[in-house]
Amino acid sequence: MKRNVLVLGSTGSIGRSTLEVIRMHRSRFNVVGLSANANIELLMKQAKEFNVDMIAVSSPKGTVDKHEGIITGQNAQVELIRHTKPDIVLNGISGSAGFLPSLETVRMGITLAIANKESMVIGGRFIKEEAAKNDVQIIPVDSEHSAIFQCLRGEASNSVKRLILTASGGPFRDIPKEKLGGVTPEMALRHPTWSMGKRITIDSATMMNKGLEIIEASWLFDMDVKDIDVWIHPQSIIHSMVEFEDTSIKAQMGFPDMKIPISYALGWPFRLPTDLPSLEVSNVPAIEFFPPDPDRFPALGLARQAAAKPQLACIMNAADEVAVDAFLRRRIHFDQIIEIVEASMEGLYNEEIHSPEDIVMLDKKTREYTRKLIK
Ligand SMILES: NC(=O)c1ccc[n+]([C@@H]2O[C@H](COP(=O)([O-])OP(=O)(O)OC[C@H]3O[C@@H](n4cnc5c(N)ncnc54)[C@H](OP(=O)(O)O)[C@@H]3O)[C@@H](O)[C@H]2O)c1
Repeated sequence: MKRNVLVLGSTGSIGRSTLEVIRMHRSRFNVVGLSANANIELLMKQAKEFNVDMIAVSSPKGTVDKHEGIITGQNAQVELIRHTKPDIVLNGISGSAGFLPSLETVRMGITLAIANKESMVIGGRFIKEEAAKNDVQIIPVDSEHSAIFQCLRGEASNSVKRLILTASGGPFRDIPKEKLGGVTPEMALRHPTWSMGKRITIDSATMMNKGLEIIEASWLFDMDVKDIDVWIHPQSIIHSMVEFEDTSIKAQMGFPDMKIPISYALGWPFRLPTDLPSLEVSNVPAIEFFPPDPDRFPALGLARQAAAKPQLACIMNAADEVAVDAFLRRRIHFDQIIEIVEASMEGLYNEEIHSPEDIVMLDKKTREYTRKLIK
């Protein structure tokens, strides 16, 4: 039986890798819908190749020749899920725009393969509640969380002692802290081991990405953030680890290629072959681990604070999205990104969240607040 797959954010890095995986396994998957924010040209091309009847584009550039099968507007992604009723949604949207689509997926009882970490960071509580209510499986796509998911397979949940997220440390792991202010967008976009979208690449350089992943892991695996460690592992071969009660540690290894966790999520509970060569362990360079420097990477400490209060996680994420965008437009320096995030968290500290609607409102309010701060 073919599985009907909906790929949200199909024009992005995760989306394109997902379609590469599906291209290799056409007999297993049927693509029922694709979506983008603005890139209608690539979206149409993908729709033609995969014979897709329904596409969604949230903010199309220019006029779209509207006809049956094209959904536009801010609610387009959610409407696409309702229309196509797939067996699995792979959410590869970047940023908080992925939250409502993730929530709708689990509300509809559909398996959620989640690359959009922001969904769990800002609305983990609501997504988990709906998933439990509707008995929905959430399968992580983020490589670290996929690694943990794989390590936990077959283990009793009460035997887990600690999660260990690995981090490449980004391109600025070794340059003196005083020089971070001079980092340009071009330098920050050159990630040493992974090829990804712009926001996550900049977030990897500030380590905000790892901060978001700590919160994502705490929701996905019901762990207290104090039991989630981060180790810098520059080779990006071990994607994360789990320590159990008896002190045994299980790790998942592989090439730093998102096709592996994407295949795992799409094929789960089975593994699908990929087109990658075998990883020859004897050729792997020395595997190293270092503790992250909290002074150089303040984003990790901020994220641990944010994990204690859902509203802070929402503010941290939205402020970071705005600050990263401002850095890419050369309006702020690299070392101001986290300063601005922290200032937004302080300024909006007393906001509260009681519903998914509150998250959407707070996300919007934070963006406005952060833009003013930057001005
Ligand atoms: N890339 C990776 O290797 C990787 C690894 C682990 C986790 N992730 C996570 O996966 C997610 C996607 O990352 P990415 O690197 O693939 O990002 P990306 O290359 O920037 O792609 C983002 C995708 O989302 C769409 N999009 C952006 N804003 C949207 C909006 N407001 N409404 C609807 N669609 C929107 C984009 O459409 P347009 O093309 O039209 O702009 C594009 O299809 C992020 O949450 C990231 O943290 C990525």
